[in-house]
Amino acid sequence: MAFLELHEVVKSFGRNTVVRGLSLNVDKGEFVSLLGGSGCGKTTTLRMIAGFETPTDGSILVGGKDVSRVPPNRRNLGMVFQNYALFPNMSVRRNIGFGLRIAGKHGAEVERRVDEMLELIHMEEFAQRYPHQLSGGQQQRVALARAIAIQPQALLLDEPLSALDAKIRVRLRDDIRAIQQKLGITTIYVTHDQEEALSISDRVAVMREGLIEQIGAPFEIYNRPATPYVAAFIGTQNLLGATVIDPAAGIVSVEGQSLEAGHPLDAKVGEELRLRVRPEALSLGRSGPNRLGGRVASQKLLGSIVRLVVRVGDTEVFMDGFNDPLLKLPAVGEAVTLSFSPEACTFAEPGAEPIAAAALEDEEETP
Ligand SMILES: Nc1ncnc2c1ncn2[C@@H]1O[C@H](COP(=O)(O)OP(=O)(O)O)[C@@H](O)[C@H]1O
Ligand SMILES: [Mg+2]
Repeated sequence: MAFLELHEVVKSFGRNTVVRGLSLNVDKGEFVSLLGGSGCGKTTTLRMIAGFETPTDGSILVGGKDVSRVPPNRRNLGMVFQNYALFPNMSVRRNIGFGLRIAGKHGAEVERRVDEMLELIHMEEFAQRYPHQLSGGQQQRVALARAIAIQPQALLLDEPLSALDAKIRVRLRDDIRAIQQKLGITTIYVTHDQEEALSISDRVAVMREGLIEQIGAPFEIYNRPATPYVAAFIGTQNLLGATVIDPAAGIVSVEGQSLEAGHPLDAKVGEELRLRVRPEALSLGRSGPNRLGGRVASQKLLGSIVRLVVRVGDTEVFMDGFNDPLLKLPAVGEAVTLSFSPEACTFAEPGAEPIAAAALEDEEETP
């Protein structure tokens, strides 16, 4: 039996149904992320788990007990939000001890627990400071310490890093994961940032329009997307128009060049499909069994990655390689061959529209 269970949970606001029969099982000690674009129902789902919203239908169980109608303060859950939400008039020490005092603890017991928390977040020397005297990252550390000081049954985090700088974000997410693993605390982490979700979770639940589209280990989500939506949402995909030549042998034609799918295709001769292949699965040269000839349109330095844009017929194809000071890239206009393995290919129906990955990255959450 899972520790936290959502059974076909529905949430409607008036006539607007925003969570549409969502089911989820989370094991004790597991770290699960809810990942999805703005407005897909992540926060609403988390707020129902916390008890701030009541499901319109369905049920939520913690440790086998139905808590759907238990008020938040009786669920023993720790929460961290995007906006720091510390008490501005309380010192760090008093903020962290707040939940303990509410729970009726006092004196030495509270102080001892707060000291433990300060050590855990490496902020011993900041105990007497007030929130306005802390950086955003430090404030989120304190918020995390306050949430786990009460030894909650589970930790719920809603975009806790969204307001922080990129560098701090990466450090703090690793710290959150390390603390979570050290304490073995069951954690639900809401984010719209796929890199964040993939890097720290045991499992990632990709949400879309109030439902989980796919749930799995990060590696599985990235390498074996179960639906066209997940394939388009996670990472970058090249999409190429492919005509089926020999379905049994898995042969297609892309821009007049014959390619192997590596498996039989459930399609008819002459049928139009979309071939998906990730930029990092391509390499320059004739090493792989699948080859596409084209001309270099541009190069982009993305930091550790160099992206080559190659025009293959009417399609622009991205190829990603690691940056290296000795790297010699072909010049713009030069003819090149791109190679990839049949295993790197997946196929979609032509009607399955991709969503613009760039547009999703730009999306900002409003707190
Ligand atoms: N209290 C509310 N009343 C009415 N609509 C709401 C309320 N809370 C959220 N919504 C709507 O529910 C949808 C999902 O919101 P939310 O769960 O916050 O999405 P996410 O966190 O994934 O961005 C949005 O369309 C939002 O406007
Ligand atoms: Mg939200």
